Amino acid sequence: MLPEEVLKTAAGEMTCYGQTGMSVMEMSHRSKDYQAIIDRASELFYELMDIPSNYKVLFLQGGASTQFAMIPLNLYSEKKKADFVITGQWAKKAYQEAKRYGNARIVASSDDKTFSYIPKLTKDMFDPDADYVHITLNNTIYGTKYNQLPDVGDVPLVADISSCILSEKLDVSKFGLLYAGAQKNIGPAGLTVVIIREDLIGKALDITPTMLNYQTHADNGSMYNTPPTYSIYICKLVLEWLKGIGGVEAIEKINREKAAVLYDYLDASAMFKGTVVKEDRSLMNVPFITGNDDLNAKFIKEATENGFVNLKGHRTVGGMRASIYNAMPAEGVEALVAFMKKFENENK
Ligand SMILES: Cc1ncc(COP(=O)(O)O)c(C=O)c1O
Repeated sequence: MLPEEVLKTAAGEMTCYGQTGMSVMEMSHRSKDYQAIIDRASELFYELMDIPSNYKVLFLQGGASTQFAMIPLNLYSEKKKADFVITGQWAKKAYQEAKRYGNARIVASSDDKTFSYIPKLTKDMFDPDADYVHITLNNTIYGTKYNQLPDVGDVPLVADISSCILSEKLDVSKFGLLYAGAQKNIGPAGLTVVIIREDLIGKALDITPTMLNYQTHADNGSMYNTPPTYSIYICKLVLEWLKGIGGVEAIEKINREKAAVLYDYLDASAMFKGTVVKEDRSLMNVPFITGNDDLNAKFIKEATENGFVNLKGHRTVGGMRASIYNAMPAEGVEALVAFMKKFENENK
């Protein structure tokens, strides 16, 4: 979802942005008007996420999946060593890509229980000599998230925050690099945001293609080539909306309340059950089951008929999953729970 306010503003500005006489889509990315849009989007990231000044915010393309390759290409030193925690499909893909270029190592995995928990991690499990440690902070498909960051010593911590960016407070200074595809909490697909500590820029392996080198984008203000201009513009509107409602602190409070409504019901229900261990539950993705495939299918069908869409769990895990990203209002979650209660009563 995107905030309705954002969609309405975009609709109002669709054919003419400000005094420019044209749509943002039609602007030259080198124009003064467009520069003001990308500058504002960047400024708002620093402000909303409290990003220290020794970090760069880059607006890139290729999705979070391109970062799976870009990170090892840029962060591997001659040692080419990185540690991975496997908490789902996306973490596994990041690992597999890094393995193509060097010695990616699995430190821990929750594969044994269908990724329904975050492995317990202690400092001694990590290689102090690694170039970086990679984690997936929120696991979109399985509905887990790290409620505590691993202690990795001085090794740069890299996190995929695609499905939790701007959903709750995050201490950016604890990370070497953060990355996110825009399509969950910050705008339309086509934009990827990378937040990188400056000392990690400029050491890419020789084989790194120019477009996959962070330095290329850092040196050119994310304008080495044409950036995804319209997606960045919508991102700016989303960030303005978020600032308007009180920033990350305010949305975190709303997100916690929203998630609690759903988890409290799942904990009390005799029919529906959450699939994730309590201490690792995500605020954004809530997977649940009935324990009966036919009943799951009936629920999804009736929910869809009643306007609750996209509730089918990921094809690899089945069941149901409610994604309650930033733009989902509390009323949406309350309406879903009311519908689940009704369904439970009717199907006892
Ligand atoms: C945590 C996570 N990482 C990576 C991806 C892949 O993102 P993209 O489609 O932008 O490559 C997704 C997509 O859902 C995701 O949820």
